[in-house]
Amino acid sequence: MNQQRRSWATDQPVRSPFATPSGVLGRLAGRFMLMTNKQDDVLNLLQAQPGDRVLEVGYGPGGLLRLLADRTDAALIHGVDPSPAMRDAATRHNRAAVRAGRIQLRLGDAEHTGLADQSVDHVVSVNTVASWPDLEAGVRELHRVVRRGGTVVIAWHGGTSPSRIAQSLRLPEDKLRRVQHALEARFSEVTRHRLRSLEVFRATR
Ligand SMILES: C[S@@+](CC[C@H](N)C(=O)[O-])C[C@H]1O[C@@H](n2cnc3c(N)ncnc32)[C@H](O)[C@@H]1O
Repeated sequence: MNQQRRSWATDQPVRSPFATPSGVLGRLAGRFMLMTNKQDDVLNLLQAQPGDRVLEVGYGPGGLLRLLADRTDAALIHGVDPSPAMRDAATRHNRAAVRAGRIQLRLGDAEHTGLADQSVDHVVSVNTVASWPDLEAGVRELHRVVRRGGTVVIAWHGGTSPSRIAQSLRLPEDKLRRVQHALEARFSEVTRHRLRSLEVFRATR
């Protein structure tokens, strides 16, 4: 879907098998992400309540979807990701919840989630924002689908003790500020958090 698109953050085509996973390399990248991307602290920041509807944008191999299903009482967990390989991997990783309809996965991206206006309580997106072609269009779409009073969490590599790889993928401060400003242009409250290996923005609509 977005193979030829350029990242707003680097102005380069998005090509890495982690950013646009497909084929054998994409599947390997998915396995690597499941092993290395531990996201319990993002879950805590999200504070999903019983009965909530959550959307994950760019779910990759589905590690956070699994945490959401196992450790929260969220009623419905939507996921959108442009990669068919990741949809298949995330389905395998979350077979029971997908079968039960509690996790619903679709192809899409940050700009085109396919969800109705104000249809979710929370949106979360981890390690995808620098792959988006248009930051403002993505933020506009997330604002559209989250209900008033709901939250959007956008996280990118960084934090207090990032791995060597995460360290190399950090965004410069001016790009992080652009994410913050894009959120501030639409949301009522935006806070910044530094987790173990992630730099995180949390916005309330
Ligand atoms: C580095 S992986 C991160 C996966 C997962 N969130 C994690 O942290 O383990 C990036 C994911 O973002 C997806 N992606 C790429 N471009 C995207 C876009 N414009 N909108 C939403 N997701 C995108 C990719 O298909 C891939 O699954």
